[in-house]
Amino acid sequence: MKERIEVMISAEAISKRLEEIAEQVQNDFAGEQVELVCVLKGGVVTLVELAKKIKLPVTLNFMDVSSYGDGTESSGHIKILRDLDEDITGKNVLLVEDIIDSGRTLSHLRELLLHRNPKNFKICTLLDKPDRRVTDVPVDYVGFTIPDAFVVGYGLDYAQKYRNLDYVGVIHFDED
Ligand code: IMP
Ligand code: MG
Repeated sequence: MKERIEVMISAEAISKRLEEIAEQVQNDFAGEQVELVCVLKGGVVTLVELAKKIKLPVTLNFMDVSSYGDGTESSGHIKILRDLDEDITGKNVLLVEDIIDSGRTLSHLRELLLHRNPKNFKICTLLDKPDRRVTDVPVDYVGFTIPDAFVVGYGLDYAQKYRNLDYVGVIHFDED
């Protein structure tokens, strides 16, 4: 099997869209400091690019989680593999994700972070696959809404590969 990547969203289109989102963030947080929280590893490329475009005081923080019980309805607790190293109480928090698929991970992460009483809490995702949604979760900034396909690039991986592509593409498996 040979892996082939077909471009879905170009580097230029992503850059332009993130520019627009950065402007919205600037308007919404009006001169205040914003803490960008990245969910590792997929969100890291979007977080860095967005951070460079937001003309506000920005701090960066990272967390890593794994979700239990994909497939079992009610067992959606998440395990924190790496927690934030600063308290977010009273802060403006913008959670940055690569993609929202079922929504399970994000909805539990949202609950968890809201319990820490941030001043403001918003969510940004580069990609949204609404066809696959199982758990509703409010998202404030969506880069692109895409059909149900497995995509890689711009932080997203297939078997840990392709995160470094500067575009988003659909992966195909061809017979050699
Ligand atoms: P969910 O929304 O809880 O189902 O989890 C979303 C996570 O699944 C994302 O953060 C990605 O790590 C992964 N994921 C979902 N769809 C894709 C895809 O098309 N390509 C790569 N990773 C994906
Ligand atoms: Mg992710």
